[in-house]
Amino acid sequence: MKVEPAAALEGAAAVPGVKGISQRAALLGAVADGETRIRGFGRAADTLSAIEVVRACGVEVVDDGDDDIRVAGVGLRGLRAPAGPIDCGNAGTVLRLTCGLLAGQRGTFELIGDESLTMRPHERAAEPLRRMGASIETTDGHAPVRIDGAALQPISYELPVASAQVKSAILLAGLFAASGPTTVIEPHPTRDHTERMLGSLGVRVRRTERSVSVWPVDGLPALDVEIAGDISSAAPLMTAAVLLNGSELILQNVNVNPLRTGLLYVLERMGARVAVFNRRTVSGEPVADLEVRSTQLVATTVEAEEVPRLVDELPLVALLGAFARGTTIVRGAEELRAKETDRIETVTEALRAIGVRIEAKPDGFTVRGTPARPRGGTIHARGDHRIAMLGAIAGLVSREGVKIEDPDCVAVSFPGFYELLEQLARR
Ligand code: S3P
Repeated sequence: MKVEPAAALEGAAAVPGVKGISQRAALLGAVADGETRIRGFGRAADTLSAIEVVRACGVEVVDDGDDDIRVAGVGLRGLRAPAGPIDCGNAGTVLRLTCGLLAGQRGTFELIGDESLTMRPHERAAEPLRRMGASIETTDGHAPVRIDGAALQPISYELPVASAQVKSAILLAGLFAASGPTTVIEPHPTRDHTERMLGSLGVRVRRTERSVSVWPVDGLPALDVEIAGDISSAAPLMTAAVLLNGSELILQNVNVNPLRTGLLYVLERMGARVAVFNRRTVSGEPVADLEVRSTQLVATTVEAEEVPRLVDELPLVALLGAFARGTTIVRGAEELRAKETDRIETVTEALRAIGVRIEAKPDGFTVRGTPARPRGGTIHARGDHRIAMLGAIAGLVSREGVKIEDPDCVAVSFPGFYELLEQLARR
């Protein structure tokens, strides 16, 4: 796949529904009572993994191929252990959250994933669940993960790393921990889609700036949820529009949960012009339309505290930094090494290959900016959807275009990505 240089990005577009909310809705719908309806389901390989997981546990899902999905909930403790392993594909969120849900079921479950998901660290979710009384074993810290349903007790747990996935696994297990509230304390605030959804289902949730507690329940009502576009899928398009002179891009119906909009703050600091308008609330989540125009950027620094708010957008920050006046620094982001690939290495490798002056650090990277377009070349996505999308945007803003090796992995989060890019690009 070769992405040729473009002059600008123009027009209006919508992106697939928030991946993490789509997955959470499928998983919670599975253990609710009655039929859950999910509108705006962000159809992609990672969200279909959530559907496959609940189907494997005996839950019926009606999926007609559009973005309106129905899940026939089997009740809080109604998941059934299949004979074989349950495949979570490439989806870290699905594997970690499912551990939390299965810890309180009856039966023996085994969770597996693709090569990337297998190698990611899973003890981080298993360890707190074990403290709750769960019987859960990783394979030397990796997948397969084996879970035997057990009676759970509440805990108060301080997360060693800021991870919404681990937080969510503990909170979901907390629903089964009958004798009191389960509390998670975070080093830095992470996305709160789980706690918002639990709250909307009537679960007692108490939040402070750095902690969240959930109380156990006997059952969950079915969910009727509408999901807006994923800012992580909008982010590559926004990046291209900021970098290409004369661009005018409108992104409609984007989830702007404040724990997800770190990129908007970083862009503002870099001098970019992004307007957020038509603010509204949809199914308990903030939603807006975004308008992006091109600008000359100045360098910025992203520190640990900000990282969880834009963790999946940091590869794009590196590309933005390549065009900014000065040196852009991302630090306190060692979590990037635990993503679908080691994104400190894959981002550095990708951008160096096309002529960007980027240096990897143990906890992030440093990029020296210049207003000139990078040359272009070949980028290896290494099976990582975010690196493939970075490569495509780099192609648009390069002098000679970028060839992407392994381009199809964009389907993990955004199947129509290249087609949409071609529609919006003015050459
Ligand atoms: C996610 C949380 C983040 C993010 C991932 C989705 C979620 O991971 O990188 O793409 O849906 O909770 P961590 O919680 O491990 O940082």
